[in-house]
Amino acid sequence: MRLEVIVLAAGQGTRMKSRTPKVLHTVGGKPMLTRVLETVNALTPARAHVVVGENGDDFQSVFDEFDVNWVRQSEQLGTGHAVLQALPDLDAEAQALVVYGDCPLVKPSTVKRCVAAGQDGVGLITAVVPDPFGLGRIVRNTAGQVESIVEQADIAPEQCDIDEINSGILSTSVGVLREQLPRLIANNAQGEIYLTDLIAEAVSDGVAINAVKALDYREVLGVNDRVQLAKVERIFQRWQAEDLMKRGVSIADPSRFDCRGTVTTGLDCSMDINVLLEGDVELGDNVQIGSNCILRNVQIASNTIVKENTVIEDATVGRDCSIGPFARIRPGTTLDDNVGIGNFVEIKNSQLASGVKAAHLAYLGDAEIGADTNIGAGAITCNYDGRNKHRTIIGDNVFIGSNSSLIAPLTIEAGAAVAAGSSISRNVSTDELVIERADQRTVKGGGTRFRRR
Ligand code: UD1
Ligand code: MG
Repeated sequence: MRLEVIVLAAGQGTRMKSRTPKVLHTVGGKPMLTRVLETVNALTPARAHVVVGENGDDFQSVFDEFDVNWVRQSEQLGTGHAVLQALPDLDAEAQALVVYGDCPLVKPSTVKRCVAAGQDGVGLITAVVPDPFGLGRIVRNTAGQVESIVEQADIAPEQCDIDEINSGILSTSVGVLREQLPRLIANNAQGEIYLTDLIAEAVSDGVAINAVKALDYREVLGVNDRVQLAKVERIFQRWQAEDLMKRGVSIADPSRFDCRGTVTTGLDCSMDINVLLEGDVELGDNVQIGSNCILRNVQIASNTIVKENTVIEDATVGRDCSIGPFARIRPGTTLDDNVGIGNFVEIKNSQLASGVKAAHLAYLGDAEIGADTNIGAGAITCNYDGRNKHRTIIGDNVFIGSNSSLIAPLTIEAGAAVAAGSSISRNVSTDELVIERADQRTVKGGGTRFRRR
């Protein structure tokens, strides 16, 4: 069986009130359309057709990773009209699967059930939902067979209580689509050509309608406005949190956890409230993430503690480190094992060897720091001269006194010490102590005079 998928993605989605096309709004950090395409691709269709509106060019750049046939629907005259636009591109012998681009939570297993149900007649995914208002309702006859779908705008009062809804996921032969779609007319309250009217047409032609209920109604929730977008986002995040918990991660409150990327973890990691993970995050065993931390594209090895309010981005962190609270680790940073980074320390594009400590208020940019070196409070690398960035190389076992300014390019060799408050602009050799600050002056009785000023 040759399977061809049609994804309906045209239009801004007037209820979103946005300049961004609806299906480009994100769930879990990815456009809804990306999620839908990933799901249908799991079925390895022969071809995927995506129906887009006039803004189709914006799409193609976002989705160049997907090999799809872009179909233009210049006016959004309804879901039936949208499928009609793709019809000429479909192989007459194929089976078609129609999915809506605003339904991002659907799982491959559910779409597969629809395709199986559509091998003979029309397969249709329905769901029983707690709040069916606004959705197309499944109308069944007294024998329980599906007769039609009625949209909210066209609903009769006695149909309002129907709680079985149309998901929009439908599969049938291209032959049935070619036969039925051209018959659909815009005879409804919205003046649109509804794909959903195909059901009543097919029934009148004796085509079997095989309705399959989604196992979890949340999978088929569509997004028409930002309230629904937020609802769908929370469901998505809940599922991800549950997945991580099943893989051995403790999450203090799954309703205050967000992941917009992919996470791999060892055992016994824990995340306090309001943790946000983005991009590719890899954690070893027993990594503890405190509340309000953001980790974006990071690898953290086992037994490291990231304390609250820390942000780490594009960085690699070794084992047994302690970072934060309130630390900021910026791109290009590598921390080896046993590194200690305390509050208000910013590190950018720097490599810290094992045992380095920077416990308070420091800035380390474009630096290479040797094992067991101590960076005092308030020490900074002056890495930028207004034009270019320069590197600071510090050896093993160096002591950088508090409030030192290390003016790059600069090398401080192993075992050296820099006295507190020094501005160092010339290289320091092994085991030297450098003091670069004015001598202290004492004025006897000066305190009284100062206060009388
Ligand atoms: C649609 C269904 C409804 C179902 C609900 C499930 C119809 C008539 N109604 O309603 O039965 O319960 O989805 O979420 O199908 N689109 C186009 N071209 C168009 C119109 C829409 O490509 O001319 C695309 C949209 O981008 C969207 C999808 O089709 O991704 C569905 O359209 P939407 O306007 O969201 O329909 P609903 O009102 O949600
Ligand atoms: Mg919709």
